[in-house]
This record gives sequence, C-alpha cells and structure tokens, in this order.
Amino acid sequence: MLQGKPTSHEWLSGRPWDASYQDGPAPWDIGRPQPAIVRLASEGGFAGAVLDAGCGTGENALEVAALGLSVLGVDVAETALAIARAKAADSGVKVEFAAADALSSSAWGAGLRRCWTAGFSTPSTATSDQSMRPAWRR
Ligand SMILES: C[S@@+](CC[C@H](N)C(=O)[O-])C[C@H]1O[C@@H](n2cnc3c(N)ncnc32)[C@H](O)[C@@H]1O
Repeated sequence: MLQGKPTSHEWLSGRPWDASYQDGPAPWDIGRPQPAIVRLASEGGFAGAVLDAGCGTGENALEVAALGLSVLGVDVAETALAIARAKAADSGVKVEFAAADALSSSAWGAGLRRCWTAGFSTPSTATSDQSMRPAWRR
C-alpha cells in the first residue's frame, strides 16, 4: 500500500501488493503482455499518451510503447516497478515507470492526466472492487 486505505485485495490477503512480487512471479503475471492488449495494439486501439494504471512488471506498457507511443506505467508495488524498469532497459523500449496510487486524486492532479487519451488498467480486481475505482471516476 503506497498510501491511504488498503484495496480489498490487500485487506483480504493481509499483504501489500508489493509482497506478491517478492517471491517470484505474482500469480497474475503471465510473463508476456495480456492477449487483449496485444490484440488492441495490433488493431490500432492505442493513440496519444497512454497510461497503464497498475502496470505490474510492465509487459503491457512495453507492448504499447513498442508501437512508438509515449507510455507511463504506474503501480504501488516498487518491486514490480524495478522489474519493469529492468525489462525496459533490456529491451531498449522507451517507457516511463513511476510509483503512484492511481486512486489518489493528488496523483491525477500531479500529472497522470497527461495520459488521459488511452489509459488502461488490468488489475484483476478492477471490475469488482469499489476501492479500485480511480478517484476521478467516483
Ligand atoms: C492483478 S495485478 C495486474 C498487473 C499487470 N497489469 C499485469 O497484467 O500483470 C494489479 C496491479 O495493480 C497494482 N495496483 C493495485 N492498486 C493500485 C493503485 N491504487 N494504484 C496503482 N497500482 C495499483 C498492483 O500493485 C498490481 O501490480
């Protein structure tokens, strides 16, 4: 948990998101971009500046950035971000990763809005978890 109250995942598991990345791959990390992102990218579904909110180890952000788009990946899990930055360095794809709470209105005010055009989020809890709704959408 970066700040504020825990998400339901953290509350239910009793662990911060970062802990999921510390003992090998997290259960949702498939080691490649999500198929839906690959399909959308191949269909030209991304344009402008792109935000990946809850980017994890960066596979989706890297897939979209490889198109030549400006991509910012944010996550509360510092361990995931370190892995994402290492992947970016290895691949040579230019993508920015930053620690930020996507639910925080202050984070949006501070700069996440620049990625408004094609933001996407792939947390598995996003559809069912009220606490995963960004502050600007409540
Ligand atoms: C289910 S994982 C998905 C990770 C990645 N998108 C993927 O497809 O592998 C959810 C991610 O969202 C991050 N997350 C959860 N709440 C967040 C928040 N409020 N702000 C930013 N990231 C958050 C977690 O740390 C985790 O990396």
